[in-house]
Amino acid sequence: MSSSFAPLPAWLRDAVAYEIYPQSFCDSNGDGIGDLPGAISKLDYVKELGADLIWLNPCFDSPFRDAGYDVRDYYQVAERYGTNEDLVRFFEEAHARGIRVLLDLVPGHTSDEHPWFKASGQHEPNPYTDWFIWNDSVWAYPEPPLRSIAGHAERDACYVTNFFHFQPALNFGFAHPDPSQPWQQPIDAPGPKAVRAEMRKVMEFWLEKGCDGFRVDMADSLVKGLGKEAAMRDLWGEMRTWMDEAYPEAVLLAEWSDPKSSIPSGFHLDFLIHFHSSAYTSLLRKPDGFGMGANKYAASFFDRSGRGSIREFLDVYEEAMEITNGLGYICLPSGNHDIAPRLAHNRTQADLEVVFAFLLTAPGIPFIYYGDEIGMPGVPGLPSKEGGYVRTQIRTPMQWDGSEKAGFSTADPEQFYLPLEPAGDRPNAADQQADPASLRSFVKEMIAFRREHPALLADGGYTTLHAADNHLPFVYQRSHEGKSMIIAVNPADRPAEVTLSADALQGNNGTLLKGRGKLKPNADTLVLSLPPVSFGIWS
Ligand code: GLC
Ligand code: CA
Repeated sequence: MSSSFAPLPAWLRDAVAYEIYPQSFCDSNGDGIGDLPGAISKLDYVKELGADLIWLNPCFDSPFRDAGYDVRDYYQVAERYGTNEDLVRFFEEAHARGIRVLLDLVPGHTSDEHPWFKASGQHEPNPYTDWFIWNDSVWAYPEPPLRSIAGHAERDACYVTNFFHFQPALNFGFAHPDPSQPWQQPIDAPGPKAVRAEMRKVMEFWLEKGCDGFRVDMADSLVKGLGKEAAMRDLWGEMRTWMDEAYPEAVLLAEWSDPKSSIPSGFHLDFLIHFHSSAYTSLLRKPDGFGMGANKYAASFFDRSGRGSIREFLDVYEEAMEITNGLGYICLPSGNHDIAPRLAHNRTQADLEVVFAFLLTAPGIPFIYYGDEIGMPGVPGLPSKEGGYVRTQIRTPMQWDGSEKAGFSTADPEQFYLPLEPAGDRPNAADQQADPASLRSFVKEMIAFRREHPALLADGGYTTLHAADNHLPFVYQRSHEGKSMIIAVNPADRPAEVTLSADALQGNNGTLLKGRGKLKPNADTLVLSLPPVSFGIWS
């Protein structure tokens, strides 16, 4: 597909990303909350794992009612994390190690404590009056699907919220304002134009300080109303065109979960996660996923029961790959700060190795959520912290070593941001780094293996060789310049076998490079077999 945007920055091709949740990563000053100097002290760890791209969750001034996704000042690092200078040092120290950094941009809403919003809620018109979406009477709520709050401010109007009630939606306008609702403004009205310009200023501010791009929170949430898709395409297209020109090495990563929309709109990358389709949850998180989709299959594909469907994932993934081919990459995360439970919940190391074998040989850019590389299962059942609710269980402190405080902080564990996993058998990074048979060693090895084989990189070719519900294994091919590899995964606790066409080898000799299993030529077919809970990679 052709596009009007500049080609993808070359560095993306072999990127492997790591998500750092700053409050839970490493505490340097003993207050029990992770911070930037702490994260800097762990950059060597990230590098040693082999990741070269970090997504840092919001670290800006905030009342932290949604863990920082309620921004009070886009230009100021939150005191609990350090200073703006610490963040610049984080960029510099990361760059010195060949690691790039994406900040988390929350353009759709602010905190209700943001001075722009406070000004906007005043009776007297002022420069911020139209920066948020207000109707014209506290007695009439805007129509669903808009959600709104009445009686909050002096202004005689309801404001539209984007997520929780304290996250008022910034006004990017309505694609087709309803003439009977004169408070709905078009996207080129002065308010929406000023908001758009301000967001670009925020991006410029941090790009100038050295960040390498942004993960964009709720990227499809900005323009409101029917027909918003075309308007969103224009908005992000404009941002991308500006970035292509001014910061050609920087990238935009969407939290949109619909790559066929986001990438043609201008994003370099989009996550395929739990919004818009059941593809991701069907792969990794059923049945206790994040409330997504029809529960057609009782289990996820990566489940020992073997009852999951690979087609539920592939139907969405293959279409998205076709539409985005050459324009951008689809990112499959091991998890993130929103997806509960954690990947390791109810999975053994062997199960997790099969999952990582897939994630690290799939096209696009793999994202590893901190702690998933050591199989942290999380702490289910915790009371909600900072608007986490069910997500709280997946946000507990990184477990660095086997000591009482897990090397996270010197504070009294009672003061920790969230409790550690129960002592005893909780996994930790130091032990696993020292153990060649650990999950972390496996993940590290697979990342290195990916980088050694161009066919496995973000832009390597992908073809499904065998993917049928009720018939494992799932087999696919990756390729680059005429060289190809066959990858097969069997998450079930019984052996799996499939007969492929001999063409699948494409001139390769069928050498097993990683994992287990057999590939036996048989006349003009190939018989591929895998033991229970295993994978194989052949060239
Ligand atoms: C995104 C974030 C999530 C946050 C929400 C509102 O989905 O990832 O953590 O609560 O947006 O900003
Ligand atoms: Ca701290």
